[in-house]
Amino acid sequence: MAGGPVVEKPERHLPVMAGDVMALTAAAPGQIFVDLTVGAGGHASAFLASSAPTGRVIACDRDAVALEIAERTLAAESGRVRFVHADSVSALALLAQEGCRADIVLADLGVSSMQLDDADRGFSLRVDAALDMRMDPRQKVTAVDILNHWNRTDLTQLLREAGDEPRAERIAEAICERRRSRPFRTTGDLRRVVEDALGRRGGRIHPATRTFQAVRIGVNRELELLRATLDGALELLAPGGRLAVIAFHSGEDRLVKAFMRACAGQGHELVTRGAVKPGRDEQRVNRRSRSARLRVLRKAGGDAGVPGGEA
Ligand SMILES: C[S@@+](CC[C@H](N)C(=O)[O-])C[C@H]1O[C@@H](n2cnc3c(N)ncnc32)[C@H](O)[C@@H]1O
Repeated sequence: MAGGPVVEKPERHLPVMAGDVMALTAAAPGQIFVDLTVGAGGHASAFLASSAPTGRVIACDRDAVALEIAERTLAAESGRVRFVHADSVSALALLAQEGCRADIVLADLGVSSMQLDDADRGFSLRVDAALDMRMDPRQKVTAVDILNHWNRTDLTQLLREAGDEPRAERIAEAICERRRSRPFRTTGDLRRVVEDALGRRGGRIHPATRTFQAVRIGVNRELELLRATLDGALELLAPGGRLAVIAFHSGEDRLVKAFMRACAGQGHELVTRGAVKPGRDEQRVNRRSRSARLRVLRKAGGDAGVPGGEA
């Protein structure tokens, strides 16, 4: 990563493959970096350092608490940052309407460590809390609504598509069975239902991990938004600009891969041929990075000789 002003260390959440993102997107002074999922501001802060003194960040997040954290992280460079509280699709629509042209768009998908650690928000199976899981509490649907009202077929599909859960049917059946007598209220209710349905095996991941991920993705409509986000991001890029996406599960990564391959067939260029994964050292320091997959696309046009880490 290039030198530059020291920006405050991000809170609790370590940015994944920040060096790769900067290299593969060819971050440089003068550019506009649209961070659709700014979280704690780790990638944004890496970009501000790589693009000093003239690069600018448009920092978006659907979670107001995340934006407050990012504001603190990026405070030393606040003159080069604009914050937008919106989901990625709305943020892209707003920026397009304003005539913005981005050099780099980043979507680092999923939840942040702060969201998982915040007991009141119900993202984590490790803390007993109300089953909420909304990234933006202005939205109506919560995890309780999905668990108490979706039919068995839809629950099974969600667990398969968004959770990569091989025993989706069994869990969906157990969810429907349980709510007949007692509606779901807490994360503990869901954790216990999955443990009873699958058994508490001593594996590396808890048996309810995939279910929690799937329900969170359903609550926040993450896959639907991702499809529209990819289209909108490509549209917003200036010719020769780069789109970087970090996915954390195979459902997401499949969508990103298919989108980028289709783009390559239309004259855009794959900067990464396969997905880039974090190195061993990063995986050791940051467990959350283990499932990360980074893909980068270069929009057609512009100056073909832009420096970058073509892989
Ligand atoms: C993995 S964290 C991003 C971390 C960030 N790159 C950093 O370095 O700190 C994901 C963040 O994106 C937000 N988010 C997830 N999906 C979103 C979407 N579709 N639109 C806007 N924000 C989203 C979440 O609220 C969360 O704060």
